[in-house]
Amino acid sequence: MQSMLSIVFLLLIKTTTGYLVPDPPGEYNVTLTVGTLTDYTRNDPSVATPTPRTLVLSVFQPAKCATTVPVTYMPNTTAEFQGPYLQQQFNISANFTPLFLEARLPVCPKAPSSCSPLDDGPILLFSGGWNIPRLYYNVLASAIASEGFTVITIDHPGDTNIITYPDGHAVIGDGPGNPDGDEYAQYTYARAADASFIIDQLSNATAMGGLLPQRGPRQFPTNRVAMMGHSLGGATSIHAAGQDTRIRGAIDWDGSFFGSLPPSGLSTPVLLVSEELGNVTDPTWDALWPQLKGPKLWLEVANTTHMSFSDALVLLQASGQDTTGAFADLLGSIAPAELVRLLVAYTTAWMNGAVRGKVGGPLLQGKEPRRFPEVKTVSSSNL
Ligand SMILES: *[C@@H]1O[C@H](CO)[C@@H](O)[C@H](O)[C@H]1NC(C)=O
Ligand SMILES: *[C@@H]1O[C@H](CO)[C@@H](O)[C@H](O)[C@H]1NC(C)=O
Ligand SMILES: *[C@@H]1O[C@H](CO)[C@@H](O)[C@H](O)[C@H]1NC(C)=O
Ligand SMILES: *[C@@H]1O[C@H](CO)[C@@H](O)[C@H](O)[C@H]1NC(C)=O
Ligand SMILES: *[C@@H]1O[C@H](CO)[C@@H](O)[C@H](O)[C@H]1NC(C)=O
Ligand SMILES: *[C@@H]1O[C@H](CO)[C@@H](O)[C@H](O)[C@H]1NC(C)=O
Repeated sequence: MQSMLSIVFLLLIKTTTGYLVPDPPGEYNVTLTVGTLTDYTRNDPSVATPTPRTLVLSVFQPAKCATTVPVTYMPNTTAEFQGPYLQQQFNISANFTPLFLEARLPVCPKAPSSCSPLDDGPILLFSGGWNIPRLYYNVLASAIASEGFTVITIDHPGDTNIITYPDGHAVIGDGPGNPDGDEYAQYTYARAADASFIIDQLSNATAMGGLLPQRGPRQFPTNRVAMMGHSLGGATSIHAAGQDTRIRGAIDWDGSFFGSLPPSGLSTPVLLVSEELGNVTDPTWDALWPQLKGPKLWLEVANTTHMSFSDALVLLQASGQDTTGAFADLLGSIAPAELVRLLVAYTTAWMNGAVRGKVGGPLLQGKEPRRFPEVKTVSSSNL
């Protein structure tokens, strides 16, 4: 589902002091905490000397706060790496570095007195595309969190193209430039192990105190955890659910599935969301579908491409650029706000159902066809 595109245009950022992305759409604003969890049982494959595998995470928690403050979207070192990376990966002349450098997210202020996070919402782990930093999904993660979920986005060592740690040092991913299916499968297994490690650490009060100092050394319950992601991260959420029964639901945004599930299949609820493919379907999903034994829904979203499922469209619009012109081939022609609305609505319905043990309702059953005209049900079962 990835393609090389050739687009010639100039990326113009009209502001010099940064631009603000829209407030998250849900009932809550969000707090954002960036921190790390270290797995001392595994090493970081991209560091030569044996070094424990440290995951950098962004934790978005729903909170009531009457005012928000703008925070940097991406560290400079990460943003400066992305422009040339995307130019090479997609054969485009546009340089996305300024778009990432100048974006600002509205989040609740750090002062504990000014906001009260909702602490008992379901926890959603979010894994991004192969090579892609977790930061490309800040806006989507924040939008989902505003519906009452704690959303944790993950950088995977050895896979994410550059990881900038909270102390400022950065490590470049060292994987193959163009992985084959087996190599993709190996990445998903490492990512799924990261997910299980994070769920383990939710019960580790010390680790949670280190990750979320404002909240202090307290455990999170692990009985309302689900996982989702884009591209390889979406495929990872399905593998992770196959390996870890604590994962109650999975959502895959346009991620081809590599590797295999346990022979008995997977009973966890799985939502598949495809880019517009017209009269074909992803053959890896055709093969996956019969192995999914629980509630399952396969959607296709018109006017989207594989790269629609990140913050790029929202960032372009928020920075005052036209998303329907030269960008449409790469990012799809869907209106950015509509994309966010539909992804948030389906994610909320799916994950709330999954953690309750009963996935269904009119939206998922296709009984609200006029709500999101871009969305078509390809197949569904057990809803
Ligand atoms: C990249 O884009 C250029 C200019 O549009 C084109 O000439 C070239 O063939 C493209 N390269 C690849 C590998 O697609
Ligand atoms: C979220 O913050 C905005 C200011 O950015 C404020 O107008 C709004 O009322 C806040 N919403 C909630 C639910 O706290
Ligand atoms: C990051 O880059 C921006 C824009 O180039 C610059 O204004 C800012 O000072 C840089 N921040 C840091 C921490 O270096
Ligand atoms: C809990 O977290 C602390 C701090 O990261 C770590 O030292 C400890 O080994 C962890 N305990 C377990 C059982 O993982
Ligand atoms: C699918 O659509 C493409 C392009 O629109 C067309 O060329 C092709 O013949 C169609 N295939 C089938 C089986 O309908
Ligand atoms: C896709 O976009 C086109 C052009 O904006 C629009 O006419 C069409 O209605 C959209 N398709 C759907 C299913 O919304």
